Amino acid sequence: MNEKEASADALNEERQRRFEEDLIDAYDEELEMEVDDRSLDGEGVFSLEARHARKVYFRELFRMQGELVKLQDWVVSTGHRLVVIFEGRDAAGKGGAIKRITQRLNPRVCRVAALPAPNNRERTQWYFQRYVAHLPAGGEIVLFDRSWYNRAGVERVMNFCTDAEYEEFFRSVPEFEKMLVRSGIQIIKYWFSITDEEQEVRFQSRILDPLKQWKLSPMDLESRRRWEDYTAVKEVMLQRSHIPEAPWWVVQAVDKKRARLNCMHHLLSQVPYTDVEHPTVKLPARVHHPDYLRQPV
Ligand code: ADP
Ligand code: AMP
Ligand code: MLT
Repeated sequence: MNEKEASADALNEERQRRFEEDLIDAYDEELEMEVDDRSLDGEGVFSLEARHARKVYFRELFRMQGELVKLQDWVVSTGHRLVVIFEGRDAAGKGGAIKRITQRLNPRVCRVAALPAPNNRERTQWYFQRYVAHLPAGGEIVLFDRSWYNRAGVERVMNFCTDAEYEEFFRSVPEFEKMLVRSGIQIIKYWFSITDEEQEVRFQSRILDPLKQWKLSPMDLESRRRWEDYTAVKEVMLQRSHIPEAPWWVVQAVDKKRARLNCMHHLLSQVPYTDVEHPTVKLPARVHHPDYLRQPV
Protein backbone atom coordinates (compact mmCIF):
# COMPACT_ATOMS: atom_id res chain seq x y z
CA MET A 1 0.00 0.00 0.00
CA ASN A 2 1.46 3.36 -0.94
CA GLU A 3 1.34 6.42 1.24
CA LYS A 4 -1.67 7.89 -0.53
CA GLU A 5 -3.76 4.74 -0.10
CA ALA A 6 -2.76 4.48 3.53
CA SER A 7 -3.86 8.00 4.24
CA ALA A 8 -7.15 7.40 2.37
CA ASP A 9 -7.68 4.33 4.54
CA ALA A 10 -7.00 6.27 7.69
CA LEU A 11 -9.47 8.92 6.56
CA ASN A 12 -12.15 6.29 5.93
CA GLU A 13 -11.52 4.76 9.32
CA GLU A 14 -11.80 8.14 10.93
CA ARG A 15 -15.10 8.73 9.11
CA GLN A 16 -16.44 5.38 10.22
CA ARG A 17 -15.48 6.23 13.78
CA ARG A 18 -17.31 9.54 13.53
CA PHE A 19 -20.43 7.84 12.15
CA GLU A 20 -20.38 5.40 15.05
CA GLU A 21 -19.88 8.20 17.53
CA ASP A 22 -22.91 9.90 16.06
CA LEU A 23 -25.00 6.78 16.48
CA ILE A 24 -23.83 6.33 20.07
CA ASP A 25 -24.71 9.95 20.67
CA ALA A 26 -28.25 9.23 19.50
CA TYR A 27 -28.45 6.28 21.90
CA ASP A 28 -27.16 8.42 24.73
CA GLU A 29 -29.69 11.09 24.00
CA GLU A 30 -32.51 8.58 24.24
CA LEU A 31 -30.98 7.13 27.42
CA GLU A 32 -30.84 10.57 28.95
CA MET A 33 -34.52 11.03 28.26
CA GLU A 34 -35.20 7.58 29.68
CA VAL A 35 -33.38 8.36 32.90
CA ASP A 36 -35.51 11.44 33.14
CA ASP A 37 -38.56 9.20 32.91
CA ARG A 38 -37.57 6.64 35.46
CA SER A 39 -35.01 6.53 38.24
CA LEU A 40 -32.07 4.21 37.69
CA ASP A 41 -32.82 1.61 40.31
CA GLY A 42 -30.01 -0.83 39.70
CA GLU A 43 -30.57 -4.34 38.47
CA GLY A 44 -33.95 -3.72 36.86
CA VAL A 45 -32.30 -1.36 34.43
CA PHE A 46 -29.06 -3.23 33.89
CA SER A 47 -30.29 -6.84 33.75
CA LEU A 48 -29.68 -8.82 30.59
CA GLU A 49 -33.38 -8.82 29.86
CA ALA A 50 -33.72 -5.09 30.30
CA ARG A 51 -30.72 -4.53 28.07
CA HIS A 52 -32.20 -6.68 25.36
CA ALA A 53 -35.57 -4.93 25.63
CA ARG A 54 -33.81 -1.60 25.37
CA LYS A 55 -31.94 -2.70 22.28
CA VAL A 56 -35.17 -3.76 20.58
CA TYR A 57 -36.78 -0.48 21.61
CA PHE A 58 -33.91 1.62 20.25
CA ARG A 59 -33.91 -0.26 16.98
CA GLU A 60 -37.62 0.28 16.45
CA LEU A 61 -37.51 3.86 17.65
CA PHE A 62 -34.67 4.80 15.32
CA ARG A 63 -36.30 2.99 12.41
CA MET A 64 -39.54 4.87 12.90
CA GLN A 65 -37.80 8.18 13.44
CA GLY A 66 -36.20 7.53 10.06
CA GLU A 67 -39.63 6.91 8.57
CA LEU A 68 -40.87 10.13 10.14
CA VAL A 69 -38.11 11.98 8.32
CA LYS A 70 -39.43 10.51 5.05
CA LEU A 71 -42.93 11.52 6.06
CA GLN A 72 -41.65 15.03 6.73
CA ASP A 73 -40.00 15.15 3.31
CA TRP A 74 -43.24 14.08 1.71
CA VAL A 75 -45.26 16.66 3.67
CA VAL A 76 -42.91 19.40 2.51
CA SER A 77 -42.81 18.29 -1.08
CA THR A 78 -46.60 17.86 -1.40
CA GLY A 79 -47.66 20.80 0.77
CA HIS A 80 -49.69 18.45 2.98
CA ARG A 81 -51.10 19.91 6.21
CA LEU A 82 -51.17 17.64 9.23
CA VAL A 83 -52.60 18.10 12.71
CA VAL A 84 -51.98 15.51 15.41
CA ILE A 85 -53.81 15.90 18.70
CA PHE A 86 -52.46 14.36 21.91
CA GLU A 87 -54.95 14.07 24.72
CA GLY A 88 -54.96 12.03 27.88
CA ARG A 89 -54.90 12.35 31.61
CA ASP A 90 -52.10 14.13 33.39
CA ALA A 91 -48.89 12.08 33.29
CA ALA A 92 -50.23 9.80 30.55
CA GLY A 93 -47.01 10.25 28.59
CA LYS A 94 -48.14 12.62 25.87
CA GLY A 95 -45.07 14.78 26.32
CA GLY A 96 -42.66 11.85 26.02
CA ALA A 97 -44.29 10.58 22.84
CA ILE A 98 -44.23 14.05 21.31
CA LYS A 99 -40.53 14.43 22.15
CA ARG A 100 -39.62 11.22 20.31
CA ILE A 101 -41.68 12.18 17.29
CA THR A 102 -40.10 15.62 16.95
CA GLN A 103 -36.58 14.57 17.92
CA ARG A 104 -35.19 14.07 14.40
CA LEU A 105 -37.51 16.45 12.58
CA ASN A 106 -37.08 20.01 11.39
CA PRO A 107 -38.73 22.31 13.96
CA ARG A 108 -39.77 24.61 11.14
CA VAL A 109 -41.76 21.78 9.56
CA CYS A 110 -43.01 19.98 12.66
CA ARG A 111 -44.06 22.24 15.53
CA VAL A 112 -45.59 21.58 18.92
CA ALA A 113 -48.48 23.68 20.15
CA ALA A 114 -48.90 23.47 23.93
CA LEU A 115 -51.09 26.40 24.81
CA PRO A 116 -51.28 27.72 28.37
CA ALA A 117 -54.58 28.48 30.07
CA PRO A 118 -56.39 31.20 28.13
CA ASN A 119 -55.69 34.78 29.23
CA ASN A 120 -58.42 37.33 29.89
CA ARG A 121 -58.46 38.55 26.32
CA GLU A 122 -58.60 35.03 24.88
CA ARG A 123 -61.46 34.16 27.20
CA THR A 124 -63.59 36.71 25.36
CA GLN A 125 -62.83 35.19 21.94
CA TRP A 126 -64.57 32.49 20.02
CA TYR A 127 -63.40 29.33 21.84
CA PHE A 128 -61.51 27.88 18.88
CA GLN A 129 -59.89 31.15 17.88
CA ARG A 130 -56.58 30.83 19.70
CA TYR A 131 -56.12 27.30 18.40
CA VAL A 132 -56.78 28.34 14.82
CA ALA A 133 -53.71 30.57 14.96
CA HIS A 134 -51.59 27.45 15.36
CA LEU A 135 -52.99 25.40 12.49
CA PRO A 136 -50.45 24.33 9.87
CA ALA A 137 -49.78 26.02 6.55
CA GLY A 138 -48.88 23.86 3.53
CA GLY A 139 -45.90 21.60 4.23
CA GLU A 140 -46.29 21.78 8.01
CA ILE A 141 -47.09 19.37 10.83
CA VAL A 142 -48.50 20.64 14.12
CA LEU A 143 -48.60 18.41 17.18
CA PHE A 144 -51.10 19.65 19.76
CA ASP A 145 -50.01 18.77 23.32
CA ARG A 146 -53.56 19.14 24.62
CA SER A 147 -55.92 20.99 22.39
CA TRP A 148 -59.39 22.42 22.00
CA TYR A 149 -60.52 19.28 23.83
CA ASN A 150 -59.60 21.03 27.09
CA ARG A 151 -63.16 22.26 27.16
CA ALA A 152 -64.45 18.68 27.26
CA GLY A 153 -61.95 17.65 29.94
CA VAL A 154 -60.23 19.90 32.44
CA GLU A 155 -62.60 22.84 31.88
CA ARG A 156 -65.64 20.69 32.47
CA VAL A 157 -64.29 18.92 35.52
CA MET A 158 -62.81 22.04 37.13
CA ASN A 159 -65.83 24.18 36.26
CA PHE A 160 -63.82 26.57 34.10
CA CYS A 161 -66.67 26.70 31.62
CA THR A 162 -70.44 26.91 31.90
CA ASP A 163 -72.87 24.13 31.01
CA ALA A 164 -73.90 26.16 27.97
CA GLU A 165 -70.30 26.55 26.80
CA TYR A 166 -69.73 22.83 27.28
CA GLU A 167 -72.81 21.95 25.22
CA GLU A 168 -71.88 24.47 22.56
CA PHE A 169 -68.44 22.87 22.36
CA PHE A 170 -69.91 19.53 21.37
CA ARG A 171 -72.20 21.17 18.85
CA SER A 172 -69.22 22.99 17.33
CA VAL A 173 -66.38 20.54 17.47
CA PRO A 174 -67.56 18.10 14.78
CA GLU A 175 -68.41 21.04 12.50
CA PHE A 176 -65.11 22.72 13.25
CA GLU A 177 -63.07 19.61 12.50
CA LYS A 178 -65.07 18.79 9.38
CA MET A 179 -64.36 22.28 8.08
CA LEU A 180 -60.65 21.80 8.66
CA VAL A 181 -60.72 18.43 6.93
CA ARG A 182 -62.67 19.83 3.96
CA SER A 183 -60.07 22.56 3.66
CA GLY A 184 -57.45 19.82 3.23
CA ILE A 185 -56.05 19.47 6.75
CA GLN A 186 -55.58 15.92 8.00
CA ILE A 187 -56.50 15.48 11.68
CA ILE A 188 -55.32 12.55 13.78
CA LYS A 189 -56.52 12.35 17.40
CA TYR A 190 -54.86 10.24 20.11
CA TRP A 191 -56.11 9.50 23.60
CA PHE A 192 -53.30 8.25 25.86
CA SER A 193 -54.88 5.87 28.31
CA ILE A 194 -53.37 5.01 31.70
CA THR A 195 -54.73 3.30 34.78
CA ASP A 196 -55.45 4.81 38.16
CA GLU A 197 -52.50 2.94 39.72
CA GLU A 198 -50.10 4.04 37.02
CA GLN A 199 -51.04 7.69 37.39
CA GLU A 200 -50.53 7.40 41.13
CA VAL A 201 -47.02 5.96 40.64
CA ARG A 202 -46.08 8.66 38.13
CA PHE A 203 -47.29 11.44 40.39
CA GLN A 204 -45.39 9.94 43.34
CA SER A 205 -42.20 9.97 41.31
CA ARG A 206 -42.85 13.59 40.36
CA ILE A 207 -43.18 14.44 44.03
CA LEU A 208 -39.93 12.65 44.92
CA ASP A 209 -37.72 13.63 41.99
CA PRO A 210 -36.45 17.23 42.01
CA LEU A 211 -35.97 17.05 38.22
CA LYS A 212 -39.63 16.23 37.73
CA GLN A 213 -41.26 18.46 40.29
CA TRP A 214 -41.89 21.19 37.71
CA LYS A 215 -44.23 18.81 35.93
CA LEU A 216 -46.50 18.56 38.94
CA SER A 217 -49.14 21.27 38.81
CA PRO A 218 -51.92 22.00 41.28
CA MET A 219 -54.19 20.90 38.43
CA ASP A 220 -52.54 17.46 38.54
CA LEU A 221 -53.23 16.97 42.24
CA GLU A 222 -56.83 17.97 41.73
CA SER A 223 -57.08 15.54 38.82
CA ARG A 224 -56.08 12.69 41.17
CA ARG A 225 -58.89 13.62 43.50
CA ARG A 226 -61.33 13.81 40.61
CA TRP A 227 -60.29 10.64 38.82
CA GLU A 228 -63.90 9.48 38.51
CA ASP A 229 -65.06 12.81 37.13
CA TYR A 230 -62.34 12.69 34.51
CA THR A 231 -63.38 9.15 33.58
CA ALA A 232 -66.94 10.31 33.03
CA VAL A 233 -66.02 13.31 30.88
CA LYS A 234 -63.46 11.32 28.91
CA GLU A 235 -66.13 8.81 27.92
CA VAL A 236 -68.51 11.56 26.87
CA MET A 237 -65.75 13.23 24.88
CA LEU A 238 -64.62 10.12 23.02
CA GLN A 239 -68.21 9.35 22.16
CA ARG A 240 -69.43 12.79 21.12
CA SER A 241 -66.43 13.84 19.06
CA HIS A 242 -65.62 10.58 17.30
CA ILE A 243 -66.36 11.36 13.65
CA PRO A 244 -65.30 9.50 10.50
CA GLU A 245 -63.42 12.58 9.31
CA ALA A 246 -61.41 12.65 12.55
CA PRO A 247 -61.80 9.54 14.69
CA TRP A 248 -60.20 9.00 18.09
CA TRP A 249 -57.42 6.43 18.46
CA VAL A 250 -56.73 5.11 21.94
CA VAL A 251 -53.09 4.46 22.83
CA GLN A 252 -52.57 2.04 25.72
CA ALA A 253 -49.98 4.02 27.64
CA VAL A 254 -49.14 2.20 30.86
CA ASP A 255 -46.05 0.81 29.10
CA LYS A 256 -44.44 4.05 27.95
CA LYS A 257 -42.08 2.59 25.40
CA ARG A 258 -44.72 0.45 23.77
CA ALA A 259 -47.07 3.43 23.77
CA ARG A 260 -44.53 5.59 21.94
CA LEU A 261 -43.73 2.94 19.37
CA ASN A 262 -47.39 2.09 18.80
CA CYS A 263 -48.31 5.72 18.44
CA MET A 264 -45.49 6.44 15.97
CA HIS A 265 -46.26 3.30 14.01
CA HIS A 266 -49.91 4.22 13.80
CA LEU A 267 -49.16 7.81 12.83
CA LEU A 268 -46.93 6.59 10.00
CA SER A 269 -49.72 4.30 8.81
CA GLN A 270 -52.20 7.18 8.62
CA VAL A 271 -50.24 9.39 6.25
CA PRO A 272 -49.92 8.28 2.62
CA TYR A 273 -46.29 9.36 2.31
CA THR A 274 -43.91 8.03 -0.29
CA ASP A 275 -40.17 8.39 -0.74
CA VAL A 276 -39.15 11.73 -2.12
CA GLU A 277 -36.23 11.56 -4.52
CA HIS A 278 -33.30 13.77 -3.67
CA PRO A 279 -30.26 14.22 -5.86
CA THR A 280 -27.16 12.97 -4.04
CA VAL A 281 -25.65 15.89 -2.21
CA LYS A 282 -21.95 16.52 -2.58
CA LEU A 283 -20.23 18.84 -0.16
CA PRO A 284 -18.67 21.68 -2.13
CA ALA A 285 -14.93 22.12 -2.01
CA ARG A 286 -13.63 25.03 0.01
CA VAL A 287 -13.24 28.23 -1.97
CA HIS A 288 -9.63 29.24 -2.23
CA HIS A 289 -9.69 32.73 -0.75
CA PRO A 290 -7.71 35.54 -2.30
CA ASP A 291 -4.89 36.86 -0.18
CA TYR A 292 -6.68 39.96 1.02
CA LEU A 293 -9.15 37.73 2.94
CA ARG A 294 -6.28 36.16 4.81
CA GLN A 295 -4.84 39.41 6.10
CA PRO A 296 -5.13 39.65 9.85
CA VAL A 297 -7.21 42.64 10.84
P1 ADP B 1 -50.17 20.10 31.92
O1 ADP B 1 -50.67 18.87 32.60
O2 ADP B 1 -50.59 20.19 30.49
O3 ADP B 1 -48.73 20.35 32.11
P2 ADP B 1 -51.88 21.47 33.86
O4 ADP B 1 -52.10 20.13 34.47
O5 ADP B 1 -51.41 22.57 34.74
O6 ADP B 1 -50.89 21.38 32.62
O7 ADP B 1 -53.20 21.98 33.18
C1 ADP B 1 -53.98 21.16 32.38
C2 ADP B 1 -54.69 21.97 31.35
O8 ADP B 1 -55.65 22.82 31.96
C3 ADP B 1 -53.78 22.88 30.53
O9 ADP B 1 -54.04 22.67 29.16
C4 ADP B 1 -54.18 24.27 30.95
O10 ADP B 1 -54.06 25.17 29.87
C5 ADP B 1 -55.62 24.09 31.37
N1 ADP B 1 -56.03 25.08 32.35
C6 ADP B 1 -55.46 25.35 33.53
N2 ADP B 1 -56.10 26.32 34.16
C7 ADP B 1 -57.13 26.71 33.37
C8 ADP B 1 -58.19 27.69 33.45
N3 ADP B 1 -58.29 28.49 34.51
N4 ADP B 1 -59.05 27.77 32.43
C9 ADP B 1 -58.94 26.96 31.36
N5 ADP B 1 -57.99 26.04 31.21
C10 ADP B 1 -57.10 25.90 32.20
P1 AMP C 1 -71.93 14.63 34.71
O1 AMP C 1 -72.14 14.80 33.23
O2 AMP C 1 -72.97 15.26 35.56
O3 AMP C 1 -71.59 13.22 35.10
O4 AMP C 1 -70.63 15.47 35.06
C1 AMP C 1 -69.43 15.19 34.43
C2 AMP C 1 -68.40 16.08 35.03
O5 AMP C 1 -68.71 17.44 34.82
C3 AMP C 1 -68.25 15.91 36.52
O6 AMP C 1 -66.88 15.83 36.73
C4 AMP C 1 -68.77 17.15 37.14
O7 AMP C 1 -67.94 17.55 38.24
C5 AMP C 1 -68.63 18.14 36.03
N1 AMP C 1 -69.73 19.08 36.08
C6 AMP C 1 -71.00 18.86 36.47
N2 AMP C 1 -71.73 19.96 36.38
C7 AMP C 1 -70.94 20.92 35.90
C8 AMP C 1 -71.11 22.29 35.53
N3 AMP C 1 -72.24 22.91 35.71
N4 AMP C 1 -70.06 22.95 35.02
C9 AMP C 1 -68.88 22.34 34.84
N5 AMP C 1 -68.66 21.08 35.18
C10 AMP C 1 -69.66 20.36 35.69
C1 MLT D 1 -47.88 13.61 30.02
O1 MLT D 1 -47.01 12.95 30.57
O2 MLT D 1 -48.93 13.17 29.62
C2 MLT D 1 -47.63 15.07 29.85
O3 MLT D 1 -46.33 15.39 30.20
C3 MLT D 1 -48.67 15.87 30.58
C4 MLT D 1 -48.39 16.01 32.06
O4 MLT D 1 -47.34 16.54 32.45
O5 MLT D 1 -49.25 15.67 32.87
